[in-house]
Amino acid sequence: MLTCPTKDAVRARVRALKREGLRVALVPTMGFLHEGHLSLVRAAAGAADRVIVSIFVNPTQFGPNEDLATYPRDEERDLGLLEKEGVDAVFMPSVEEMYGAGGDTIVEVPSLSGILQGALRPGHFRGVATVVTKLFNIVQPDIAVFGEKDYQQLTIIRQMVRDLDMPLEIVGHPTVREEDGLAMSSRNVRLTPEQRLQAPVLNKALCAAEDVAATGANVSDLEALIRGTLETASEGEIKSIDIRDAVTLAELDGPLKKPAVVLLAVRFGTVLLIDQRVIAPQTQNA
Ligand code: PAF
Repeated sequence: MLTCPTKDAVRARVRALKREGLRVALVPTMGFLHEGHLSLVRAAAGAADRVIVSIFVNPTQFGPNEDLATYPRDEERDLGLLEKEGVDAVFMPSVEEMYGAGGDTIVEVPSLSGILQGALRPGHFRGVATVVTKLFNIVQPDIAVFGEKDYQQLTIIRQMVRDLDMPLEIVGHPTVREEDGLAMSSRNVRLTPEQRLQAPVLNKALCAAEDVAATGANVSDLEALIRGTLETASEGEIKSIDIRDAVTLAELDGPLKKPAVVLLAVRFGTVLLIDQRVIAPQTQNA
């Protein structure tokens, strides 16, 4: 497995692979890999001939009061895990390599990036869209794989790729969970034992919503059910509960008639946990 600290090194590797007629998949990450990331790598391996993983903790997607300095990192362990997965190359640039003297150009999907998580984290999705565009331009993959766990991020990237005619396929991969239902995240290690015990409440709320949605409930009733379930976790502070059109992220009300996505953000101490589920009335499944 090649480790590429520079743009030139990863470009040269991808050029060599493409000369051999091989299809290349990119899995962008910020490192501190867990089973969720590895499932993205396996999905990428199933969809292309070679997998490139990027590890880059992107400063431009962190707000001034967010956890950039304390974001967990363990490059040695990450490289060991990726080697075992048969990854072809890992692109792990420094901030200087990635942004040089700064950079002025930004990429933004305005109608999608200022709502939901974007309203709580101003500038976050601009930072994501810009760095993902840079990664696509540097690596030039045929496919890129992202987790459905970051549903808004995935929706924004799909829109950006469509709008800017980026020549690659975006693959969304289902959320990977711990045995007790907690969505895997690098941030989970920062929960206290009591918070960790309570954190699966997000998944419980999503399961409850899924069951009730199948019987064709009102959006407001679904929200009340989710809120009631989340409130059983004394350490959790509900930051947002959103039930939106699964494709456009537009607001919904009244009886649920088409697939919706439930997006949750709950803070446990300093750790913001997010989770999501697409829910649909029964007729959608029939
Ligand atoms: O989902 C992430 O880990 C990051 O937002 C991404 C896509 C790697 C961009 O920095």
